[in-house]
Amino acid sequence: MVALGLVLESVMLLSIATSCAAKTAAVDIQALQQIKSSIDPSTLHSSSCLGSWDFSHDPCDATSSTSFVCGIRCDEELQEEGASTRPPRRVTSIVLDGYGYRGFLSPFVGNLSALQALDVSGNALSGALPASLGKLARLRRLDVSGNAFSGGIPESLGELRSLEHLGLARNALSGTIPASLSRLSSLRRLDLYSNLLSGELPIAMPAMSSLLYLDASSNRITGSFPGRLPPSLVRLSLRDNRLSGQLPSNLGDMAALEVLDVSRNGLWGALPDSIFLHPSLQQVNVAGNAFQWIQTPGLAAMPLVVLGSKMVALDASHNRLRGPLPPFLAELPRLSSLSLTGNMLGGTIPLQYAIKAVESAVGIQPLRRLFLDGNLLVGALPFPFLTWSPSATLISASFANNCLHSCPPSLPFCGAQRPATQCS
Ligand SMILES: *[C@@H]1O[C@H](CO)[C@@H](O)[C@H](O)[C@H]1NC(C)=O
Repeated sequence: MVALGLVLESVMLLSIATSCAAKTAAVDIQALQQIKSSIDPSTLHSSSCLGSWDFSHDPCDATSSTSFVCGIRCDEELQEEGASTRPPRRVTSIVLDGYGYRGFLSPFVGNLSALQALDVSGNALSGALPASLGKLARLRRLDVSGNAFSGGIPESLGELRSLEHLGLARNALSGTIPASLSRLSSLRRLDLYSNLLSGELPIAMPAMSSLLYLDASSNRITGSFPGRLPPSLVRLSLRDNRLSGQLPSNLGDMAALEVLDVSRNGLWGALPDSIFLHPSLQQVNVAGNAFQWIQTPGLAAMPLVVLGSKMVALDASHNRLRGPLPPFLAELPRLSSLSLTGNMLGGTIPLQYAIKAVESAVGIQPLRRLFLDGNLLVGALPFPFLTWSPSATLISASFANNCLHSCPPSLPFCGAQRPATQCS
């Protein structure tokens, strides 16, 4: 046993010794040095990843000792057949800690041609994103979000054909979204939110055939809602931009879409039937636009609406919706949150709303949130609401600031109603 243990130990020592022999490629060492020297030294705390990068050691060899404690990963290049010398080791990943590094991102990063992941998110890096990033042909994840990068999104990022995740959110990037990004056919996630991007979304976007998540909220994007978007999208957020015009009736082309947020734009017209007839939409937020009508689906479509809709939450608050409350909304089987606050809806509250909010029925998801406040609703509260108790499924609601009479103040959601002068 002892002898076997010794043999095993010496085999292990031998394998460690040979792996030590492979050095980091010189081009990578130079790039790492340039990356470190582009950072303001006052932000290179000794306990940070970058602070531990000590170039008196070989970077790929020294990882997990006292220098190069974190931030990089390396791999050996595949050995060419018949090659006698070991190939150099290459840096395959740079994932920095969010230590608040200031400075800029060195263009030498583009020389790390084996890089698969680059994540410098959550720091205070500024200046332009280097165009040389487009040379990183093996990059699968690029995340620079949560910094202070400015200038445009480099066209060259469209060259990153292996890219699956592009995170540019929470910077000060401006200009239009380059059309070249449409060539990123492996991209699954694109985060552009909280920048200063303007212009229209690129029309070639449907070519991003793997895209699941697109968040371009809180920018200055103009134009109409795109007629065509990647059909693979599951979540789409264009919240807080400057989109105008109507929502198209072909949302169904994005058959996988589950979450649509176009709140706080300048959209108008009718909320199209396609929202309610969609095979997978679960959450729709159109709040803070100028929509005028909730289109009631045609009678022929009703059974489909009632049985097929996956809608769980609809927020259409702060629009210009007028007319009566459509009863079919309360018949969407999975709907549990409905907000129509701050519109011009009139008429009485349909009995269906009260039934869905208070009475439970098998196979029907009850309403848990119902906000109808700030409209012009009249008449008495449908009777089932009066049976509400704190143990009811309806946990949050408001009917305040309407023209309801007999909304008993004992019900927590009644609130003060409008003065008579506003209700004639
Ligand atoms: C490394 O990157 C710098 C900056 O982009 C560039 O000037 C230089 O030519 C590159 N070196 C190699 C070997 O590609």
